[in-house]
Amino acid sequence: MSDQADVLRTKMSRSLYESQKLPSKIIAVASGKGGVGKSTFTLNFSLSLQKAGKKSLIIDLDVGMGNIDILLGRTSCYSIADMVNHELSIWSVIEKGPEGLSYISGGSGLEELFEMDFDKTEFFCRQIESLESEFDYIFFDMGAGLNSNSRHFLLSAHELFLITTPEPTSVTDAYGMIKFVHLNAPALPVYMVVNRVQSREDGEKTSRNLGEVTKRFLGKEIKMLAYVPEDKIVWKAVREQLPFVLSAPSSRTSYSVNQSARTYLAQGTFSREDDGTSVRSFLAKLKTFIKKQRG
Ligand SMILES: Nc1ncnc2c1ncn2[C@@H]1O[C@H](COP(=O)(O)OP(=O)(O)OP(=O)(O)O)[C@@H](O)[C@H]1O
Ligand SMILES: [Mg+2]
Repeated sequence: MSDQADVLRTKMSRSLYESQKLPSKIIAVASGKGGVGKSTFTLNFSLSLQKAGKKSLIIDLDVGMGNIDILLGRTSCYSIADMVNHELSIWSVIEKGPEGLSYISGGSGLEELFEMDFDKTEFFCRQIESLESEFDYIFFDMGAGLNSNSRHFLLSAHELFLITTPEPTSVTDAYGMIKFVHLNAPALPVYMVVNRVQSREDGEKTSRNLGEVTKRFLGKEIKMLAYVPEDKIVWKAVREQLPFVLSAPSSRTSYSVNQSARTYLAQGTFSREDDGTSVRSFLAKLKTFIKKQRG
């Protein structure tokens, strides 16, 4: 009898565990230098996550310059700018892309998000809060460099994906970004993506150099996430407005992005349950930074 009760108890707790949704993880995607492949990587990486059964949402925060919907060959009805300016529910501005991927386009007509007045900021945060547990991963595709928008998002996120190419100017700017993060949010994990590499050795050399300098001068470890090859297929995919993981699934670039998504998920599997990340914890930090800025 007690055996049966044990089995029942185990079954019940397992189904309770399975029905409990985990809080969403917020990832800021940034780069020092512009045009290095943030949007392309974010889109293809989240499609890989979707294919692996993880729900992802991309929020294009490069307001005015955003292009997630262009990369997908779609036209969005509403944008994040419309959400704030017209007080729309975030659920009404979320668009559906391929593989069930969700995204919100950047739009235009929004001043720097955090130069918004108190009411607009509160409205924005309430909308973001309603996303909790509805997505496994929420990506903020930021503009290049640091402005008052990206600075706050970067420092409040649970993880930072930092994109660079092997070019020295791009690597130097990436280092500047890591230094800024290290000084202001030392615990924030930084994942590096080296895009447009000529060979695996080219990628490894870039990440080794950057990793060594970061370790020596800042005492900070960075994690390697992906080396994405330079390939005409990416350019073609952008022209055809079809993400390469879908239009060219057996290309080297798709292999690299899919592989990095698999490794990323395998790492996270053990730490997702109680790693303290949630939309709420993100918003709490964000509000603190905004308050500080307002003085
Ligand atoms: N691996 C690659 N191989 C070849 N071309 C690439 C690769 N990655 C990106 N590109 C090219 O670089 C262009 C810019 O990429 P993308 O728009 O993703 O950069 P970004 O960092 O988001 O730019 P921005 O700073 O303007 O937001 C793409 O349109 C594509 O043509
Ligand atoms: Mg971009």
